[in-house]
Amino acid sequence: MFAERIEDLVESPVREILKVIDRPGMISFAGGLPATECFPELDLSCVNSEHLQYGPSEGDTELREHVASLLCERGLETTADRVLILSGSQQGIDLVAKLFVERGTRVSVETPTYLAALQVFDLFGAEYSGYSADNPVLGNAPLTYAIPTFQNPTGHCYSDAQRRALALACDQANSVLFEDDPYRDLVYDDCDRTPVCSYIRNSEWVYQSSFSKSYAPGLRLGYLTCSEALFPHLVRLKQAADLHSCRISQRLILSLLQQSSSRNQKLTDFYRYRRDHFEKALTRLFSDIADWQRPVGGLFFWLALRPEFSIDTRELLKRSISSGVAFMPGEPFYPKGLQAVPGLRLNFSHASPEAADKGLQILASIIRAACESRV
Ligand SMILES: Cc1ncc(COP(=O)(O)O)c(C=O)c1O
Repeated sequence: MFAERIEDLVESPVREILKVIDRPGMISFAGGLPATECFPELDLSCVNSEHLQYGPSEGDTELREHVASLLCERGLETTADRVLILSGSQQGIDLVAKLFVERGTRVSVETPTYLAALQVFDLFGAEYSGYSADNPVLGNAPLTYAIPTFQNPTGHCYSDAQRRALALACDQANSVLFEDDPYRDLVYDDCDRTPVCSYIRNSEWVYQSSFSKSYAPGLRLGYLTCSEALFPHLVRLKQAADLHSCRISQRLILSLLQQSSSRNQKLTDFYRYRRDHFEKALTRLFSDIADWQRPVGGLFFWLALRPEFSIDTRELLKRSISSGVAFMPGEPFYPKGLQAVPGLRLNFSHASPEAADKGLQILASIIRAACESRV
């Protein structure tokens, strides 16, 4: 009855967990949720009835122009007529997968990597090879998917050398670089955020980002730009997918972008405080259980469990949820066929500092109890 590819479509574990986090009292470290306190105030006075009409598939002109100027400031050579507004950057993953991936196509990814990108690539039949930022060997993969700035799930931010090495590897392997950059505005310490795509010399490339993390995910807006040859194909795929993105959201985002305000500074101060508070609690409670690096941006800590606490973290999740704490097990972030290292992805932006202290204490005791009962 169904298309063959549906066999490869698995339910996203994150969306499953999101279903339970609304339970009263639940402390969630699970999703990549921005803090509700950081959402912009909703002012609909910039919207008029004209925005209720169908619009261009590429996106509204003024927003595309504004986005193009942001992209040029980042070092990407592009113009407004090579900007495509997306219904969330998740849509960009879908469009790029449709353009490049068919059954058996090899996609080169970091391990671990964003699980909802794997969900899409899997649907189109991808096979994977893993690469590391220190040694980007891409083999013969025609497509490389990377999150060089505040990676999901690890939070890693590539150094200048790692950025240049990845671009060179794509050029040498003639692999299309698909750079996903939704977290770039959430930066807490000095670091390099130059798009890797700006270093590409001859390979094709797609660069995308999102308004979800720095404004509001419910508006469902993102954007991409790409090398010239790819743009018309991605526009047609967008037409076929949803005609165009919500024009009310586009208008709202444009008006927020045009307000010169201290928003970014306030946002990053807020999240830096949460990150630092979270890390203090981790140091108190997890120092002997796991290793981690402080993320210089983004929304996550990645905890690699020490060998003596090595356990399939999916097994901990049920116990943790019934004790009122949700987190994201590490295993689903590994592509099929590649070895997973037991770890946990913990979002530090959503829970209040008090809730974070409480939730981490519960989580640490669940891990300790699970490991003791194993012995
Ligand atoms: C790496 C990465 N890419 C894309 C997305 C999708 O974001 P959105 O569709 O809200 O722009 C996310 C969301 O968490 C993400 O972490």
